[in-house]
Amino acid sequence: MGNVVVGQETAELKLDGKVYQLPVVVGSEGEKAIDIRALRAQSGYITLDSGFMNTGSCCSSITFLDGEQGILSYRGYGIEELAENCTFVEVAYLLDHGSLPTQTELSKFSQMLGKYAMIHEDMIRFFDGYPPNSPPMAILSSMVSSLCSFYPEMLDNPLENIEEMAARLISKVRTIAAFSYKKSMGQPLVYPRHDLSYCANFLNMMFDSPVNPYVINDTVVRALNKLLILHGDHEQNCSTATVRVAGSARVNLYASISAGINALWGPLHGGANQAVMEMLTQIHEEGGDYKKYIAKAKDPADPFRLVGFGHRVYKTHDPRALIIKKACDDVLSALNISDPLLDIAKELEEVALKDPYFVERNLYPNVDFYSGIIYRAIGIPTNMFTVMFALGRLPGWIAHWKEMWDDPDWRISRPRQVYVGPKRRPFVPLAERT
Ligand code: ACO
Repeated sequence: MGNVVVGQETAELKLDGKVYQLPVVVGSEGEKAIDIRALRAQSGYITLDSGFMNTGSCCSSITFLDGEQGILSYRGYGIEELAENCTFVEVAYLLDHGSLPTQTELSKFSQMLGKYAMIHEDMIRFFDGYPPNSPPMAILSSMVSSLCSFYPEMLDNPLENIEEMAARLISKVRTIAAFSYKKSMGQPLVYPRHDLSYCANFLNMMFDSPVNPYVINDTVVRALNKLLILHGDHEQNCSTATVRVAGSARVNLYASISAGINALWGPLHGGANQAVMEMLTQIHEEGGDYKKYIAKAKDPADPFRLVGFGHRVYKTHDPRALIIKKACDDVLSALNISDPLLDIAKELEEVALKDPYFVERNLYPNVDFYSGIIYRAIGIPTNMFTVMFALGRLPGWIAHWKEMWDDPDWRISRPRQVYVGPKRRPFVPLAERT
C-alpha cells in the first residue's frame, strides 16, 4: 500500500438497516480515500462510478497531482523544477527508479539507451508492409507489441532484466518513431548515433538526410526535453490505467505498453494535441474568427468542444500548460518564427478565460493547447504529435507497470457492473421465434 496509512476516521454506511464502518486511508500528501475493498463481501453491494471519477484503483508513489491547486510532482519533485533543470533522460530515470540519478547512474543509463537504440533489421522490413498514410500510432503500437517476438525471454519471465528491458524500450520507441516518419516521407532511414544525447539523436534521425544535413540546435533540443518531461507521467490517466489493466493480467511489458499506446491515440486523450492544431489551422484558414468557435463550444446543441481546453482532473490552470506556454514563446523567438496559430491560440485563451461558460465549468487550457505549436516550430508534422506524446509518457507507463507488478495488493483488474438488460426469460427455439 505504499505510503498510505489507515487514518483514525472511519466512514459509516447504512444499508438495509445495518451499519458498516469503512476505513479511511490517507496518502502522503494528505489526500483521503474510503477503503471499500471489503464492502461487497460484507454487504453484497458494489459501488457505481462511470468513468472512475471517484475511484482510486491503486496506491502509487510515482506522481502526485492536485487538480484543484494545479500541483504536479514526480516522485516528490515539482514539475517546474524538473522541466527547468533536467533532461528527459534524467526524468525517465527518476520515474522508473524512484530517485534522481547520480552522475554515474546517469552515464550508465545513457549508455544503455545508446546501446539499445538500433532495431532488429528484420523489423525494419515491417515498415514496408504498411500502406502509405498509415496512422503512425497504429504503426507504433504494433511495432512495440512485436518487440516481444525479438526478446522472447520476456514471455517466460517478464521481470527478468527488467531494467534493461525498460531501457531497450525507451530507446527503441524513439528509433521506431523516427523511422516511421522517414518511411512516411519516402526518405532513407537515418540510424541512431552513439555520440548524441537522447533528444538530439531523435531529431537527427527525424530530419537528417544525405542531401540536407541536419544541424542540431540547442534551443530545439532543450524544448524537446521539456515537452517530453512534461508528458512523462500523469498518474491514472486513460492510457496509464490501460497499461495497468492490461499488465494486471500478467502480460509482458511490451504488450502492456502497446495497449497504452492505443488508448493514448484517442482524440480525447493523446490525440488532442493534433486536434488542437487542426482546429487552430481551420480557424486561421477561415479568416481567424475564433469567437465563432467559442460560440460553437458553448452551444449545447453543437457537439463541438474547444480542443485543448478542460481536463478531467485539473479544475484550475494545468501547471504543464503554463510551462509550455512560456516555452512556446521562447522557442519561437529563439528560432525567429512568427506563427499566426500562436496568436489565435492566445486570443482564444484570453476570451475563454473570461467567459462565464468556461469559468463556471473550470475549463482552462490543458497541456495540449500549446504543445503542438512548439512541435510545429521544431519541424514535427501534425500526424506525429501523438507519437511524441507516447515517447514522453513511456517512462511513466513503465514505472506504473513495474509498480503494479510489485504491488502486494495486486489483483487482476476486473471491475463489476450493474446489469440493466432483460431479466432471465425462457429460451425460444428458432422455429418458434416470431
Ligand atoms: N469545450 C467546451 N465545453 C467543454 C469542454 C471543452 N473543451 N470540456 C468540457 N466541456 C463542458 C462539457 O460540455 C460539460 O458541460 P455541461 O456541464 O454543460 O454538460 C462540462 O464542461 C464538463 O465536461 P465533462 O465532459 O463532464 O468533463 P470531463 O472531465 O469528463 O472531460 C475532457 C474532460 C475529456 C478533457 C474534456 O474537457 C474535453 O473533451 N476536452 C477537449 C479535449 C481535450 O483537450 N483533451 C485533452 C485532455 S488532456 C490529455 O488527455 C493529455
